[in-house]
Amino acid sequence: MYVARQPQHAPPRSPIHGPALPLGLAVTAIGILLSLASATGDVSAGQRMPEPSQVLQVPSVEVGATTAADPCAEQAVIDAIAAADDAATIAAFGGGESFRAAVVAGNAPCIALDDPSHVWVVVNKARPLDPVDFAPASLAAAPLQVTTGSGQARSDVAEAIGQLAAAAAADGVGQIGANNGYRSYDLQVRTYATHVRSEGQENADAASARAGHSEHQTGLALDLVACAPCGGIDAFGATAQGEWVAAHSWEYGFIVRYESGATGVTGYKPEPWHVRYVGTELAAAYHNGGFHTLEEFFGLPAAPDYPH
Ligand code: DAL
Ligand code: ZN
Repeated sequence: MYVARQPQHAPPRSPIHGPALPLGLAVTAIGILLSLASATGDVSAGQRMPEPSQVLQVPSVEVGATTAADPCAEQAVIDAIAAADDAATIAAFGGGESFRAAVVAGNAPCIALDDPSHVWVVVNKARPLDPVDFAPASLAAAPLQVTTGSGQARSDVAEAIGQLAAAAAADGVGQIGANNGYRSYDLQVRTYATHVRSEGQENADAASARAGHSEHQTGLALDLVACAPCGGIDAFGATAQGEWVAAHSWEYGFIVRYESGATGVTGYKPEPWHVRYVGTELAAAYHNGGFHTLEEFFGLPAAPDYPH
């Protein structure tokens, strides 16, 4: 077992308010105060999020010390990768935060962040799917009310979104439906073209991915709506269901991928309706670390624009 450090268990917080103070940072800050040195950290507990289009500050989460020089040589990691078992792979790394820390440190060459068949894939304007016409091996209908003809997701993701929706309903916030789940390369061509026709290319690029650049093509993403009757995606963030998703989606393995204040990193206007499955281990590490973008989580460059 590869163990980087103990997982953090920060209390839940609303992603639209300031980041929770990471445990490592809190310990560091206390040490600084005790030594009467001046604090220079750039993250404040309770700090308000900047307006959209401003770049979010990167959480000052410490990269954990590793106890395995080469986690990819660990037999448990080798076996889990051979079995294409993402959850087991992350567990063999020592959990979500240890996995993240190893990737960021460049100590996980067996983990490809550009492989769209894994929950850790990062797709953005600078990172197209490879192959560009990738399609998931296994799709299933999301067990939700669906308002378009695109209600599928990767099988495990369909199951997870059903669990999320059931939990939201049990918490009394109402029914959650889906507007869109999996979109093929060809459907993304049509979706993006529709945006360009109605809004012009600049606005389209802030709201819709070009074909081969959408998380929807991985089968890991869904656009949620509040039901019933089901509203549109634009209304979702202000609904009880939208607020619940912002606070609790990580418990079911999802992150809200395009947050307010993150446009300078993601390249997209806020989409409180767009949830991206990363699995429960990575979602917990993302939440507990106070992250707001997958790019920052994995130490990747911001991708506000297409490179060409
Ligand atoms: N709306 C998101 C960015 C997509 O098209 O994938
Ligand atoms: Zn979406």
